[in-house]
Amino acid sequence: MGGYKEYKIGVIMFLAVFGMAVFMTIGIGGVYLGSVPATQLALEKQVHYGSSAWSIRDPLMKGWNQPKIQKADGTMVSDPVGVGKKIFIREGCWHCHTLLPEQTSDWEYFGAPPLAGDFVGESPTVIGSDRKAPDLMHVGSRMPSMAWHLQHHKDPRSVQAKSIMQSFDFLETSELKALATYMVSLK
Ligand code: HEC
Repeated sequence: MGGYKEYKIGVIMFLAVFGMAVFMTIGIGGVYLGSVPATQLALEKQVHYGSSAWSIRDPLMKGWNQPKIQKADGTMVSDPVGVGKKIFIREGCWHCHTLLPEQTSDWEYFGAPPLAGDFVGESPTVIGSDRKAPDLMHVGSRMPSMAWHLQHHKDPRSVQAKSIMQSFDFLETSELKALATYMVSLK
């Protein structure tokens, strides 16, 4: 027969285990991520965007690929790549596409998988979790043409007859251009 005391012990134990799990995931995980050494790519980002790009505590859309970036002299300028990434997130492109080639035979086609540290400073990452469509991490190397991306986003079946990708012709021309700029930047 469980009494009030047992009930309280149960709640306390639940909270303790839950608290420990949160601490281990966020606390220890954060310390570990902070100690991951910077890759060449991450160092280049740091030179380009300054030290603010080098933090896992950045709020949404900070660091590499944010819609507005702060130059070394403090002025804020619009970054077309970041604007495109924001549209990529808003339109749910990541429901079908990943930006993370898996280390299986498919990376021979999609390109090399990322190294630890490649995503540091990028928030949010759009690595995705479900691949219904080609991985896009290196799509700019396979498909370097802005015109191709514009045409494909407006009417996928005009360039890939059996594509299941929906048309994005409802987007503004400037948004389509930003998306294409983001795609071409993914090398
Ligand atoms: C319903 C799933 C789906 C969604 C959502 C989707 N795509 Fe696609 N996408 C595909 C499929 C399937 C292909 C392969 C056929 C083709 O090329 O159209 C593809 C191909 C592509 C390619 C060419 C890749 C290559 O290697 O040839 C690009 C670039 C692309 N999509 C960008 C986008 C962008 C940007 C968005 C969001 C605005 C988006 N996709 C949303 C399914 C999707």
